[in-house]
Amino acid sequence: MRMTPMHSPVRLLAAAPVSAPVLAVAFALLHAQAVAQAPSAPGPLPAPPAATVPLPAPTRGKLLYDIHCIACHNSQMHWRDARVVRDWPSLVTQVRLWQERGKLQWSDDDIAAVARHLNDTIYRLPPPTVPRG
Ligand code: HEC
Repeated sequence: MRMTPMHSPVRLLAAAPVSAPVLAVAFALLHAQAVAQAPSAPGPLPAPPAATVPLPAPTRGKLLYDIHCIACHNSQMHWRDARVVRDWPSLVTQVRLWQERGKLQWSDDDIAAVARHLNDTIYRLPPPTVPRG
């Protein structure tokens, strides 16, 4: 006669009532750990706002004019009816004359940059198709 063992592996597994709560706790712990390590968790700030919202930088022409010319100028001088500047060449000529008076030794690029700045802010002459000295 053969005896069937009462504690076979299959029967042990089916009869184990403790496993559900233990698994739940273990899963909760694992889950909490995963959330803490997730890259989307609150952490260091993203890129600084300056990288996404660029401020308008002053042009070279504005800087040169503000440093060397604005001392005895105001926009009134450029607006007056009897003004010398009538078109792009005469604007460039005036800028060249004034930087010579100041012994500033500007390059043609500097002169053109300041002329552009004055044109953008004050004169609003038709832009030159071929930039002249
Ligand atoms: C010492 C003071 C002084 C400085 C510095 C000076 N200016 Fe003048 N600028 C004047 C005066 C005064 C006039 C008006 C001249 C006239 O009535 O003909 C003038 C006129 C001008 C005009 C002609 C304005 C118009 O439409 O009639 C331009 C352009 C000009 N200046 C550009 C410059 C630039 C560019 C610089 C810097 C390199 C400069 N000035 C520096 C005093 C100055």
